This record gives sequence, structure tokens and C-alpha cells, in this order.
Amino acid sequence: GSFDIAVAKELLGKRAPQWIEACSAQPPVAIVLGSGLGGLADLISSPTSVPYGEIPGLATTTAAGHRGEFLLGWLAGAPVIAMAGRLHAYEGHSIDAVTRPMALMASLEPRAVIVSCAAGGLNPRYEAGDLVLIDEHMSLLHGLLGFGNLTADLPGQSQLSPSEHVQGQPIPADSGAESEEKALSTWPANRYGGPTCDERLAAIAMATSRRDEFRLHSGSYLAVTGPNYETRAECRMMRSWGFDLVGMSTVPELVLASRAGLPTLAIAVVTNMAVPDAPQAASHDDVLAVSSTAGVRLQSVVEAIAVC
Ligand code: 6GU
Repeated sequence: GSFDIAVAKELLGKRAPQWIEACSAQPPVAIVLGSGLGGLADLISSPTSVPYGEIPGLATTTAAGHRGEFLLGWLAGAPVIAMAGRLHAYEGHSIDAVTRPMALMASLEPRAVIVSCAAGGLNPRYEAGDLVLIDEHMSLLHGLLGFGNLTADLPGQSQLSPSEHVQGQPIPADSGAESEEKALSTWPANRYGGPTCDERLAAIAMATSRRDEFRLHSGSYLAVTGPNYETRAECRMMRSWGFDLVGMSTVPELVLASRAGLPTLAIAVVTNMAVPDAPQAASHDDVLAVSSTAGVRLQSVVEAIAVC
């Protein structure tokens, strides 16, 4: 179906008039709740649920552990909008369809966008349950290199097909280094920051991890189509490419929000290690179990950002 952000926004306004009113005084924090991370949803007070299916042009989710609704409510007194459940390319959705819910949230001009996800750990220093700020990414969701990293049209703009992008202008790479000095000072040590990792939000997350005494890494995320978890050969390849995390989502929403000029923070929960000598292959049940435990840490990061 066709998707019209203005129509969708009006629908949200009709469903949650007080919430929309509150947002005109204080812009909301927008959150994506990844696999098994829906526990945060219970913290949202007076939530109005708007299932994706109620909004013309939005697909509904089918993946286990993903609910498929917006929650419009309050966290620590601040208005928040959460995507409880996201759409995945492996469910057969185009990247355009996958990013529509984020495009709608972005149109509300949130003061922060927090994207969470479950991911496999490729970096051998990680352990299941660790949290990682995603400060670099690559997407194979459109194939090998290219469009996956770049096509995320801004809200309200025409959705270009990949071929139209080819006919148009190349899009600058998101290197993140505003200056050579900055590039040298931030890489590789403590390298959080970059176009899709807002430094202020990252600093709040880091401070929260110190306060609550949990590990918070910074790392690079590779998005693949799935739906299979990685074979041993794939794990070796992805690690040799230098990635710290592998998952099946996040990059399209993150790039869209970041290119819309919004402060973004993406946090992965390492639900399992994607390493060749892992004792057993990843399963979706394991992913859901670990992420609900680590979800408590994620909640405190989100709360810390909401009160700022
Ligand atoms: Cl090991 N691989 C992928 N592709 N996605 C994941 C994962 C692994 N663990 C959680 N999500």
C-alpha cells in the first residue's frame, strides 16, 4: 500500500492527542526495541498502542519476539515513542518498507533516536550479554557493498529506487571524521562517535555503564540478510573483514534517522558469540533469552537519555 507520512502522523495525533500535545513542548525520544528487548516497553507509562497494521502503508511483523506496534507514552516524565518490534528484510520486506516506521518517527523530530538490536559477537573479547555502541557499520542488505549503506531517503522526500540513485549523484561516504586531527584522536582507542553515533548520547551511555558497572564496548556492525545465523566459514570471513558484530537489521533505520539530521545512538546486545569455535550454533530462542537479561542495562541507558 502507499505510505504517506502526513496521513500517518495525523493518525498518531488522533490516537494519542495528549502525547502529541506534550511533544510540542518537549520533543520525544524515539526508540527501536530489538529482538527480545521489548521489556523496556513495560517501563513506558500511559502507553497508547498503535499497531503498524493500523497505519496505511506499514507492514506488520512476523518475527518471534517482535510485536509490531508503536507505543506512545512517557518515560521519566518525558514523551517517548517506541517501535515495539521492527520489520526485517528476511521477512520479505523491501528496505523502503523496513524504514517506514522510522521515517514516521523521524518526522516527529525527536531529540534523540535510540536503536537497539540483538547481534552476534564476532569480536572474541566480547561475551554474551555485553552491550556495544555501534559506531561503524556496513550493510549487505542490498547485496555486496553499495546501496545498503546509502539508500535511506529522508522523511518527506521521494523514495528513490536503487537505479534512480545510480542515475543521480553518488552519496558521500559517512567517514565521520570532520578533520584529520579528530580522526587520529578518536581511532582506534575509545572510538565512539561518528555520523550515526552522536557523541553526546554516547557519553551518556558510557556514564551509565560506569555508574551501573556493566561493560559497554564500541564496535562495528555488519548487517546481513539472514534469516540464517552464520556458518563457521561466514564467521571467519566477517571477523577477517574486521567487524565486531553481525545482525540482520539496524543499519537502514539508523542511516535514515542520521541522514535526517537527528542525534542517533545504536546499541547492540551481544546475544551469542558468532565465532567459529562457538560451542553451539545460535538459535533464536537463545537470542531472545539473553537479550531480556541485558535489556535491564539497556533500560537504564534509555532512561538516562530520557531525563537529559
Ligand atoms: Cl550470530 N547472526 C546474525 N546474523 N544475527 C544475529 C545473531 C547472529 N545473533 C543475534 N542476531
